[in-house]
Amino acid sequence: MSALTELYKEIAVCHKCDIARFRTKAVPGEGAENADIMFIGEAPGYHEDQQGRPFVGPAGKFLDDLLASIHLRRQQVYITNVIKTRPPNNRDPLPIEIANCRPWLDRQLELIHPRMIVTLGRYSMAMFFPGKSISKIHGTVQKQDGVLYFAMYHPAAALHQQSLRQAIQADMLKIPALLAEAKNMAEVKPEPVPQPQLQAQQLKML
Ligand code: URA
Repeated sequence: MSALTELYKEIAVCHKCDIARFRTKAVPGEGAENADIMFIGEAPGYHEDQQGRPFVGPAGKFLDDLLASIHLRRQQVYITNVIKTRPPNNRDPLPIEIANCRPWLDRQLELIHPRMIVTLGRYSMAMFFPGKSISKIHGTVQKQDGVLYFAMYHPAAALHQQSLRQAIQADMLKIPALLAEAKNMAEVKPEPVPQPQLQAQQLKML
């Protein structure tokens, strides 16, 4: 069994938060284990809770369309959420729930090791761009430790608001070039040490 599948089993029985009592299914995340890009949303909604899969309701349909606009299918990427259990009545996740769920996300990041992380909405943005405002930073990128972080509006918010819809569509179109850059960054090998310098270093070690 893969490490990711083991992780899903652990998440399925996690009861750190009270809201676990009300869920139908935990929603760990899904996609390619070797995905170069990871999308992180907020929390499962009704449909996700029913199916145990992320972004399968109306916001998910829109996310699929956005992915298709850059010729990606969800099987080629990894999709998850900040919290893995649906909050009752789709209320916002509480700080304690986000903190309790954080180790699951950290494990997913360790196992998948994406080159690029796309935050969808304010909650996942706050994890990687603390103190920033989404209206200011959406569509912008931040590099850290060889990973590109890119902030976008949440597809659910953009579903009904025309200006946000255009913004999220435009931001999505920036991803292919950034992803190519992220993969390139990862592949850049250290400059070879010039021979005379290498010999001098070897002599020093003697
Ligand atoms: N909204 C989210 O943030 N995540 C989902 O999985 C579905 C809707």
